[in-house]
Amino acid sequence: MAARKIIIDTDPGQDDALALLLAFGSPDQLDVVGVTCVAGNVPLSYTTRNALLICELAGRTDTPVFAGCSRPMVRDLVTAEEVHGKTGLDGPEWGEPTMSLQPQHAVDWLVETLLAADDGEITICPVGPLTNIAMALVREPAIAPKIRELVIMGGAYFAGGNITPAAEFNAYVDPHASDVVYRSGVPIVTMSLDVTHEALMAKEWIASIGALGTEVGDKTEAMLSFYERYDLDRYGDLGGPLHDPATVAYLLKPELYSGKQAFVAVETQSELTMGMTVVDWWGAKRQEPNCTWITEVDAEGFFALIYEALVALKP
Ligand code: BDR
Ligand code: CA
Repeated sequence: MAARKIIIDTDPGQDDALALLLAFGSPDQLDVVGVTCVAGNVPLSYTTRNALLICELAGRTDTPVFAGCSRPMVRDLVTAEEVHGKTGLDGPEWGEPTMSLQPQHAVDWLVETLLAADDGEITICPVGPLTNIAMALVREPAIAPKIRELVIMGGAYFAGGNITPAAEFNAYVDPHASDVVYRSGVPIVTMSLDVTHEALMAKEWIASIGALGTEVGDKTEAMLSFYERYDLDRYGDLGGPLHDPATVAYLLKPELYSGKQAFVAVETQSELTMGMTVVDWWGAKRQEPNCTWITEVDAEGFFALIYEALVALKP
């Protein structure tokens, strides 16, 4: 079977980097047709640089990388340097990328690429604030049927928020974009904190990646060790969640996951609950579901999948 065509929309971020590496390490199943960058964890100048660095680390300098929106649709940009470090990819020593960004704006490229695609041909994994995706849908609604599925990392319901008590970071940074996307009618699968907090990184697993003895292994171990320190402080010694690769893992092995179809609305008014993803889990309002909300994962299978992809990226 031909590899499934995907676009990764991202704000790297160490966990974003792992989403990219998981996709690049699975070329028989996934064809990464492009990477679009958005401001989020750190400003756009860093997220674009980081995406290029990860393509180079994976030996995938043939991947077109695009700069997208440098700020959310309505609100001011909120970043997360306290989690990801000043550059967003703190941990290892990085040089500057030798690869260049594509000249086209990410939103223009998304619209052009999707319009040229067959219906349901392209899957998108958005793992940052949804600004680029919402802007593309607003600019050209005819792209909606071209998207097979949006497999989103964002939101939280049962787990509570991580940037405010009510909201997860990606949904909080651009709640208006999330609102546009959840109303778009495009099939959505959501990997929220409800599921990403069910798979915590064991120290031994991070060490096993370092033991690969490859550049990918060394850099990944250094990224994850840096990234994890924030979550260990916050959540305790059990290990930190690794959010963004859940989207790619779902595409590779959907049998690792379970959840149910539900209607989701995004708060865009109240400061107290801004960006909260309100899931009608019990169908209280009898609205047609607009997403599959994932709640469970086979954590062992998830970490094994990532490990295998990193091995495949040798040397
Ligand atoms: C999400 O926010 C970012 O810090 C991570 O990269 C992930 O996409 C988790 O809330
Ligand atoms: Ca991210």
